[in-house]
Amino acid sequence: MDIGQVLLVGCGKMGGALLDGWLARGLSPSDAIVVEPGPGAEHARATGAAVHGDAPGLPVDLAPTVTVFAVKPQNMAAVAPAYRVYAGRGSVFLSIAAGTPIAAFENFLGADTAIVRSMPNTPAAIGQGMIVACPNRHVTDVMRQACDRLLGAVGRVAWIDDETHMDGVTAVSGSGPAYVFWLIECLESAGIAVGLPAELARQLALETVAGAGALARDAAEDPATLRQNVTSPGGTTAAALEVLMAEDGLGPLVTRAVDAATKRSRALA
Ligand SMILES: NC(=O)c1ccc[n+]([C@@H]2O[C@H](COP(=O)([O-])OP(=O)(O)OC[C@H]3O[C@@H](n4cnc5c(N)ncnc54)[C@H](OP(=O)(O)O)[C@@H]3O)[C@@H](O)[C@H]2O)c1
Repeated sequence: MDIGQVLLVGCGKMGGALLDGWLARGLSPSDAIVVEPGPGAEHARATGAAVHGDAPGLPVDLAPTVTVFAVKPQNMAAVAPAYRVYAGRGSVFLSIAAGTPIAAFENFLGADTAIVRSMPNTPAAIGQGMIVACPNRHVTDVMRQACDRLLGAVGRVAWIDDETHMDGVTAVSGSGPAYVFWLIECLESAGIAVGLPAELARQLALETVAGAGALARDAAEDPATLRQNVTSPGGTTAAALEVLMAEDGLGPLVTRAVDAATKRSRALA
């Protein structure tokens, strides 16, 4: 991965996953510079990256191609302004902080600064994330490509131009893994309720969701066709889908859930 130096600010759960993904994709450890005051520093050091406890400790002539912010959103206002100097050296700033708008970064770093706001989800920790990225008008094609490669190291990347979609993105893919975990829990409980041993019920629920997800992603058919293909009239799947697809079934429930998350995301911003 030949994109020059990458400065990672915050090497916790998500920052650490990004760093691992970049190095696995061939970023040289000598091109990875990490600022992390906490326990994540140990992980970063073990990868061979240069690790610093705070911004003032960084080399004076540092000019990172990309500066990645992976600290908690509530820490961003205190952390980001110290990196303003790199805007003047051509760096693009890539944030993964939930709910922190581009305007906030323009405020911290200068209105002319190139900023990409992105939203990953937890499967990024195993390289299977879904990441949505939104650039401001100062992001050049070269900067966008660099950010695309960095985010692509932990999953699939979709780019949007309209930042207002970030609330819906947060509600679908950002929070989505939790809905799927709940589906797994429900399927497991339902299996136990019809008499399956608990351990078997869990295994069936987990593997069914993982397998169906992988099939739906990789198949040529769309999810509705895949569903119809396994539903014989009058059969067992049809009996269950009659309940799930009823007027008060899963469809309206998921719509309400995503709507609630979208509204909460708007309110928090
Ligand atoms: N985890 C997810 O699934 C997920 C999903 C989407 C978006 N995100 C976003 O990713 C960001 C990081 O989340 P996370 O779950 O990885 O949190 P986390 O594990 O707490 O990581 C944040 C890291 O930043 C460090 N830090 C604190 N102050 C710092 C400073 N001044 N300079 C550099 N590093 C500093 C923290 O160190 P200490 O431990 O010492 O505080 C911590 O290691 C958040 O903005 C979150 O919204 C996370």
